[in-house]
Amino acid sequence: MPIRPGTVAEIREQMLRLLEGIVPEAEIVLKAELVHEILRLKEERGAIILGHNYMEPALFHTVPDVTGDSLELARRAAATDRDPIVFCGVKFMAETAKILNPDRTVLLPSEKAGCSLAESITAEDVRLLREMFPGVPVVTYINTYADVKAECDVCCTSSNAAKVVESLGSDTVIFLPDEYLAANVARETGRRILYPVGADRKPTLQVDSLEHVILGWKGRCEVHEQFTVEDVRRVREQFPDAIVLAHPECPPDVVEAADFAGSTTAMARYVKESPAKRYMLFTECSMADNIAAENRDKEMIRMCSVRCPHMNEITLEDTLRALRENVVEITVPKDVAARARNAIERMLAVRA
Ligand code: 13P
Ligand code: SF4
Repeated sequence: MPIRPGTVAEIREQMLRLLEGIVPEAEIVLKAELVHEILRLKEERGAIILGHNYMEPALFHTVPDVTGDSLELARRAAATDRDPIVFCGVKFMAETAKILNPDRTVLLPSEKAGCSLAESITAEDVRLLREMFPGVPVVTYINTYADVKAECDVCCTSSNAAKVVESLGSDTVIFLPDEYLAANVARETGRRILYPVGADRKPTLQVDSLEHVILGWKGRCEVHEQFTVEDVRRVREQFPDAIVLAHPECPPDVVEAADFAGSTTAMARYVKESPAKRYMLFTECSMADNIAAENRDKEMIRMCSVRCPHMNEITLEDTLRALRENVVEITVPKDVAARARNAIERMLAVRA
């Protein structure tokens, strides 16, 4: 929930209370003016701001009407009647909101907010895979662009990936494009993982049998691929009482070594509900700050070198500019949007 609108001084006081010890006072003093102006303009324009869990703390805890993981934000985007929708997240998330709201304006505060997973696969790659494995259903992670979604049967996010795969009633499933998420889902659903991808990163037919198989792709999150099982071992050695949480975009051995793996919101909920005092999150590092602000009795161990450069593009300054200048407006060609919408709506219909 955003902080209450008010004068700059009132907003500064709320931010100081909320973010004490997380964001330096000097930064809060500067940012309170931006927050004040964003809240004023948001009201004036009848806008809604959606904020992903990876937003920096001074933004995350102030201006979004709704915060959450990809699935929660997609559900809220599907339900809103406000216009414009300002998406403080990355481009594939804003595109999803646009596909679900073709008649509303969707604004992404920075055009540089991409994603290494979304960049890892093209619509043509998906068409080739379909030709090679006719009749095999195709699941695509929501971290893809609209033209890729348009070629797939159903989307998924990190919080419903295994459920979506099982909902298909098919022994063999193509799951794109995250290599590690596919392997983690294969383990969770009792399937083997195979990668029909050649050294040139193009589809290839080199698979032995298709029984109980997930056919993956070699895309990776440039943040989560950095974590190793050695990191987990070191954390456990230094902090034996720490609970280790990992996002399922991490390599499978990291996920296996963790105490819990789940979406960004599932990890935040775990910290909130668990009695343990210390946590290490193997995920994008701003989230630890966001959780720390809401769980004052708990300690979050930070690995602050691992910040998603794309999420980091979204600032309060750019969010204000988005509302002032109506930028960067997200557009999706009508025919692509209609086909991608089927895949997204099919996902939203899968029970949580
Ligand atoms: P969540 O759906 O878990 O929020 O993940 C989104 C993402 O981009 C993780 O890197
Ligand atoms: Fe993409 Fe990884 Fe950044 Fe998430 S953390 S937006 S998957 S690059």
